Amino acid sequence: CGIVGYIGQNDTKEILLKGLEKLEYRGYDSAGIAVQNEDGVHTFKVKGRIAALRQAVDENVYAPMGIGHTRWATHGAPSEENAHPHQSASGRFSLVHNGVIENYNELREEYLQDVPLKSDTDTEIIVQLIEKLHEKHKDVTEAFRQTVRLLKGSYAVAVMDRDNPDVILVAKNKSPLLVGLGDGFNVVASDSMAMLQVTNRFVELLDQEIVIVKRNAIRIQKLDGTPVEREHFIAEIDADDIEKGTYPHFMLKEIDEQPFVIRKIIQEYQGDNDDIKLESDIRQAMLDADRVYIIACGTSYHAGLVGKQMIEKLAKIPVEVHVASEFSYNMPLLSEKPLFIFISQSGETADSRAVLVQVKEMGYPALTITNVPGSTLSREADYTLHLHAGPEIAVASTKAYTAQMAVLAILAVDTARAKGYELDFDPMKELAIVANAIEALCDQKDVMEGIAKDYLSTTRNCFFIGRGIDYYVGLEGALKLKEISYIQTEGFPGGELKHGTIALIEEGTPVIALATQENVNYPIRSNVQEVVSRGANACIISMKGLDQTDDTLVVPEVHDLLTPLVSVIPLQLIAYYAALHRDCDVDKPRNLAKSVTVE
Ligand code: G6P
Repeated sequence: CGIVGYIGQNDTKEILLKGLEKLEYRGYDSAGIAVQNEDGVHTFKVKGRIAALRQAVDENVYAPMGIGHTRWATHGAPSEENAHPHQSASGRFSLVHNGVIENYNELREEYLQDVPLKSDTDTEIIVQLIEKLHEKHKDVTEAFRQTVRLLKGSYAVAVMDRDNPDVILVAKNKSPLLVGLGDGFNVVASDSMAMLQVTNRFVELLDQEIVIVKRNAIRIQKLDGTPVEREHFIAEIDADDIEKGTYPHFMLKEIDEQPFVIRKIIQEYQGDNDDIKLESDIRQAMLDADRVYIIACGTSYHAGLVGKQMIEKLAKIPVEVHVASEFSYNMPLLSEKPLFIFISQSGETADSRAVLVQVKEMGYPALTITNVPGSTLSREADYTLHLHAGPEIAVASTKAYTAQMAVLAILAVDTARAKGYELDFDPMKELAIVANAIEALCDQKDVMEGIAKDYLSTTRNCFFIGRGIDYYVGLEGALKLKEISYIQTEGFPGGELKHGTIALIEEGTPVIALATQENVNYPIRSNVQEVVSRGANACIISMKGLDQTDDTLVVPEVHDLLTPLVSVIPLQLIAYYAALHRDCDVDKPRNLAKSVTVE
């Protein structure tokens, strides 16, 4: 979910709506804004997208303050009633919330038995509680503070008080929230992107802090009321980077940006005399580790699997890769000197953060590899490596994935060199070859579109097979395709399909096979034969030098550890065109959110 808030002199509707549009990647099943002026509070809510909310908002209401929300449903189905902002029983307090309140049932039973609730959300509990505690304390800030103290779980909240038009109250725990500073106005947002339209000066908030946001001042406090002083920072995102330009979709733009991203990474990590530019502390942390634990979710997890191969093969440190949400509740036996690497495009994923909090409590070092340097995971880890991919807006991750693997390769080589290993692998030179290869593939969109049409326009399922590193890319290809086209997909190790899933192969079932690794070129082709003889429609994507006559697509040759950065490009484009042909919303697939800030 995403939150915005504005308190100033001018009309706020457009600022809130524009802000929510920028936050739509966080969830888009329902949305709402509440604005406040001398006539009171005006609330507009819809089930659906911000575009629908825009239609619902009354043009004629002029108000100098307001809060807004775009939702990714956790408690309560997407509906107008469950959309935020929520109001207290008397209508005095309006609130937006991002996160999950774990003790909402207990709070309802203990404090709100006599209050009829209007929605099924945990959020409404917060706003009703503020009103309830206000009846007792009479002081709004105190009631807010008391309420926040009672909450267990994750939250970023912004509250307006109808009877006090000079303030928006905000609080945060585990969910991201920033306050932005303007001249004669101040803003609140889950992500600086939302408010770059009006300011680039932001103040970070820490967990369990509240902020009293007024037009000309902000006051940060701890939950016991102790004041906190904090300098602002300048958000370094270029507002143009978050526009689509001439592209029909962000996803296509972001796929096309990959050669530039790889070149940017080369530039950023290239030191003098062919050295790698990397903080010496990060190098030392890698050298000190007896085992690396990579923690991530979704696409970042898939990049982590490739990273394992790179680090083990080049730097010879054992690596385990874990899905964050599993690791936090089922921690494996750890080695004596572990190093944790968190891979996260957004740097905000709650599942990954939960693990980071745990391992920091245990005293272990942590490195975050992220596209957002000021993000929660970056701030809370000991070290950060930046992806330099520029804002990624499409929900399906593309350029962040290739950037993650490029940075992991650089890290692996740096560690290997620091250990004194002689490597026949110059990462910058090899990545430059990769950038050219990606560019060549991005120029063949018509071919990928043809493959999407031939193989995927009517199918209900699709399998991806590969061996070794190709298997990991297959997992990512399967995820990309299912995320945006809703075709049921699975990625499999080539040899494993026959142990069960081959039962699903029927006449015409598409199977996309990757063949970029010399040592498994023969066995993967045998696996292709196994499915073809059962009727599968096989699409073989191989690498130059390993290709055979009937291969569907041959990608340019690159170093065998870097093939995922290249072989994933056709898979991304095929997914894109498949989704397009099936009339799916490419950039905002149903049920998903780009940044999932709840566990
Ligand atoms: C969400 C997105 C995925 C993404 C995952 C991890 O589920 O829909 O595309 O891979 O989160 O996100 P992160 O920002 O941590 O890489």
